[in-house]
Amino acid sequence: MKAVEIKSGIYWVGVIDWGVRDFHGYITPNGTTYNNYLIMDEQVTLLDTVKYDFASITIDNIKSLIDPSKIVNVVMNHIETDHASSINKIMVLAPDATIYISERGKKGLDRHFDTSKWRFKIVKSGDTLNIGKYNLLFIETPMIHWPDSMMTYVKEAKLLISQDGFGQHLATAARFDDEFVECASTAELDDSVVDYYANILMPFGQLIKAKIAEIRKLGLEIDMIAPDHGIIWRKEPEKVIQKYLDMIDGKAALRTAIIYDTMWHGTEQMTLPIMQGIKDEGVDCKVIRLRATPMSVATKELWKSRACLIGTPTLNNGMYPSVAEFLVYLRGLKPKNRLVGAFGSYGWGGGAVKEVYEEFKKMGLEIVEPGMQVIYKPSAEDNEQCYEFGRGFARQAKEYHKKFE
Ligand code: FEO
Repeated sequence: MKAVEIKSGIYWVGVIDWGVRDFHGYITPNGTTYNNYLIMDEQVTLLDTVKYDFASITIDNIKSLIDPSKIVNVVMNHIETDHASSINKIMVLAPDATIYISERGKKGLDRHFDTSKWRFKIVKSGDTLNIGKYNLLFIETPMIHWPDSMMTYVKEAKLLISQDGFGQHLATAARFDDEFVECASTAELDDSVVDYYANILMPFGQLIKAKIAEIRKLGLEIDMIAPDHGIIWRKEPEKVIQKYLDMIDGKAALRTAIIYDTMWHGTEQMTLPIMQGIKDEGVDCKVIRLRATPMSVATKELWKSRACLIGTPTLNNGMYPSVAEFLVYLRGLKPKNRLVGAFGSYGWGGGAVKEVYEEFKKMGLEIVEPGMQVIYKPSAEDNEQCYEFGRGFARQAKEYHKKFE
């Protein structure tokens, strides 16, 4: 790769990680990128670094433009390892550079590196830095994605370096949204935005909404959003902002995700008549088996759907372990505005469905009770009841969906 000019004198010097499939437990079937940017101004300024494995690649990209010792400023928008873990390599090459960072970012960096010889300037929202023809404005964005996070606005370029915000875990030859559309599909790109939001930023939706309002109040003109993961938004940056606002406000398809696991196929057999009942009510349905599907994919599918049914057999009087694991993961993400229910098979003493409902209650989701249970595996009569259960659930999903239209 080589540096890619994204605005006059502003270059992408990041790396593409084609092979990462497990991003701190979040499965990334499409890999990712670690984007960082170099501004070739009177004061050469680097915004963010990359994951440690790829330090030599970003350094080579920087070298294709300038000797790294000429870097005057390093802006650290976020200290998570995927963006900050090669800062030590950069500081060896540019020991006189000043690091611009939030107060929390500095404290975090101190925990990871010996920073005693590095020069820092702590910045907060509203602080600016003139680097020549460009002026940088720092905007703290705590919890998008960590408490230390911030974004940097390059005023004369109308460019928002948005760090984790508006990113996607998507390794691609395209650097820009319009390039991606040429070689793939907008649906794939859209899916990546939802996947990333659902698995990383969902708990912080209201904070993100408030921050978007704050940025709008500043009256900043934005004609490009450059995140630190995935493609850069230059064709329609407003579209991805609106996409976030829609997701935060609860927009989803009238669809049911059936997310289940099974021991001896009893619970699995229940999914078919339930799915048929849902479909016969005119509601689309997506069926996902845990253990065959990463939790992050199941989460994305749930988030795309207005309603969700969880299916679990009873094991030792409780939920099946993969289902329990999924619900713990989901609870941490604090999903909202979804209608949920549960079903499952058991042998002699149920308990799993009750536990699923307890989890739903902890999450504060809209619940359809009672759930549906059968002994061992569904009989012909049970199949009829499962079908009606699916129909009834779909009718309630349609009614619930009206709140968001
Ligand atoms: Fe891409 Fe929160 O790091």
